[in-house]
Amino acid sequence: MIRCALAKGRMADGSLELLRRAGYAVEAPAGRRLSARDPEQRLEVFLAKSPDVPTYVSYGIADVGIVGEDVLRESSPDVLELLDLGLGACRLVLAAPRDRAAAPPRPSAEGALRVATKYPEIARAYFARRGVPVEIVRLSGSIELAPELGLAPYVLDIVETGSTLEAHGLAVVDEVQRSTARLIANRARWALEHAALRAFARALEGALRVGIA
Ligand code: PRP
Repeated sequence: MIRCALAKGRMADGSLELLRRAGYAVEAPAGRRLSARDPEQRLEVFLAKSPDVPTYVSYGIADVGIVGEDVLRESSPDVLELLDLGLGACRLVLAAPRDRAAAPPRPSAEGALRVATKYPEIARAYFARRGVPVEIVRLSGSIELAPELGLAPYVLDIVETGSTLEAHGLAVVDEVQRSTARLIANRARWALEHAALRAFARALEGALRVGIA
């Protein structure tokens, strides 16, 4: 049986739907359960917080995983990236209150630019490339609250529909990168269980083509 870690939240439904189109009749875990199997016992899926998906895969607890490219770029895990699944397309952007967003970010007279984010590594690299000193404030979620509450004037976060930015009076300053869901695999498992995992990846690839056609 193949064990697959799925990122909870925005991408979970799309990931399960793709698995079903690929021929694995797996339903969303029932009630408060976080794992489920298909009736033929070919696949077990479990839902984890997105930053934990590459961790489960790199430790070989899961053979494969489906997680956003944003998470992979942030943590650079030692896993194989097999496929771009195109699901959960979003943008990672630098944003600020509308009156500030039109101008390029400049550090204040006191020194570094303060940026709240769940992506400290991506943020650090982005500002290092521009030679702008930053103070990164790491948060776990609800990032758009930071400017309103006075924690940080800038945020680096995911935008999908743009409604959360809009609802907090924020506007995009710059696009940092785009992101879609990726199929990842444990390196050792990929070598040892090559035929089974390749067949799994091919089934997903086929389901993507069907989805697009
Ligand atoms: C993400 C992101 C934004 C929101 C953007 O949050 O951090 O808050 O989605 O979506 P939108 O552009 O469609 O409004 P998520 O729901 O993953 O939860 P979080 O705030 O706990 O990170």
